[in-house]
Amino acid sequence: MAQVVIENVYKSFSSRKEEQVVTPVAEPLISPTDEAPLIAVDQSSPPASGTKVLRRINLAIADGEFMVLVGPSGCGKSTLLRVIAGLEDLTGGNIWVGDRLINDLPPKERDIAMVFQNYALYPHMTVYDNIAFGLRRMGRGEEEQESRTEESKKSLPLWAENLLVETTRSLPKGLRYTTPREKSIQQQVRHVAQLLQIETFLNRLPKQLSGGQRQRVALGRAIARNPQVFLMDEPLSNLDAKLRAETRAQIVKLQRQLGTTTIYVTHDQTEAMTMGDRIAVMNAGQIQQIATPLELYNRPANRFVAEFIGSPPMNFIPVQFKAPLVITHSPFRFTLPEIWEPILQKYDGKSLLLGIRPEHLSIGVPATKNLLVQVELVEALGNETYLAVRLTDVKTASNLQVRIPPDRPVRLGEELWLSLTPDKIHLFDIDTGLAIRP
Ligand SMILES: Nc1ncnc2c1ncn2[C@@H]1O[C@H](COP(=O)(O)OP(=O)(O)OP(=O)(O)O)[C@@H](O)[C@H]1O
Ligand SMILES: [Mg+2]
Repeated sequence: MAQVVIENVYKSFSSRKEEQVVTPVAEPLISPTDEAPLIAVDQSSPPASGTKVLRRINLAIADGEFMVLVGPSGCGKSTLLRVIAGLEDLTGGNIWVGDRLINDLPPKERDIAMVFQNYALYPHMTVYDNIAFGLRRMGRGEEEQESRTEESKKSLPLWAENLLVETTRSLPKGLRYTTPREKSIQQQVRHVAQLLQIETFLNRLPKQLSGGQRQRVALGRAIARNPQVFLMDEPLSNLDAKLRAETRAQIVKLQRQLGTTTIYVTHDQTEAMTMGDRIAVMNAGQIQQIATPLELYNRPANRFVAEFIGSPPMNFIPVQFKAPLVITHSPFRFTLPEIWEPILQKYDGKSLLLGIRPEHLSIGVPATKNLLVQVELVEALGNETYLAVRLTDVKTASNLQVRIPPDRPVRLGEELWLSLTPDKIHLFDIDTGLAIRP
């Protein structure tokens, strides 16, 4: 196991077709539609000038850590994983696994297993062989020499083993000769298949599986290899809700057991918040913040993170600040807790962006310190109720989301006064979007 250090990493895709990096994919792909190309070629029209997809990424993942990578579609998550796996060249920077600089190593020498967004299974191999493949390949070379010298004390010489395998190949299964190494591979495959509940599919081809089953096979193949690093690109996106929750828990448990350093890409809020030791939030090729899930939720570094983490997202209201502690959004007038006074001195008379999460608004009494809103949508989920409301005092539509307990009946069109939980208020610099922290 090892720590992974990503240092000043840049990745651009060249604008000119002939310079386009065309990387043979280490493993042939099988896509959800079974029409996968064997080579990852950008088939879209080339960008007008070199597209900068990763811009100075710095990320250190501790030995055994589970790092979740989140960000909107197209922000560069898969590209970052592919660069780490060696499937794309770096444009700049360094990647270390433990004390090895792996920039120029071919993918199979990196001791990294990647689970692709689109599974990437061998279409012509059974599930069993897909999982066993990496294990068989690992056994070649030095490792095999070592294990052979160990094993040779208690088993046949290699030539005799090969002869037995060859001559018994056409016999019924029970009579075929299996090498000790293949036996141990068999055990590992069965163990992984059991963990992921795919034992009954071991003899099928990938095209005979559902999307969710394929995804579990792809996970199984990575787990079986027992690499130094797991890279997982939205591995649960094709599973139904129940299986997804189960597999999520299994992956976390497995990762803890194996202690394998993991980078896990997801779109899913629940996955991000529950699986990761830490989360790295990315936007437009840059890391916005790296922190524990609760730190991100409680102390987002900027407006982007504040909006991205949390569902439904944080509400934002532009306000005027008057020193020492008053924010207004006529006729709303609110006095901030004293803790804000020192940091806000320099903002006297300026505009700020107030951030408040849906769960930190509640139904209050008529008062200028509360926000007068009109209810536009009520979503009663049973255990809680979401409201979409509109601030009534502004001409331009300004919508807020509110989460309230389920026992308070609310009618469409009803006017409510919303009170803010004072110590849950966030403020952002309106120009830079950076959080202002007391
Ligand atoms: N080979 C390529 N040539 C040119 N541009 C590319 C290439 N591969 C990816 N890109 C661009 O790089 C950006 C990042 O793509 P990437 O696949 O890393 O996004 P992502 O964060 O994984 O998105 P998603 O969540 O949708 O999977 C996108 O704008 C994409 O169009
Ligand atoms: Mg992706």
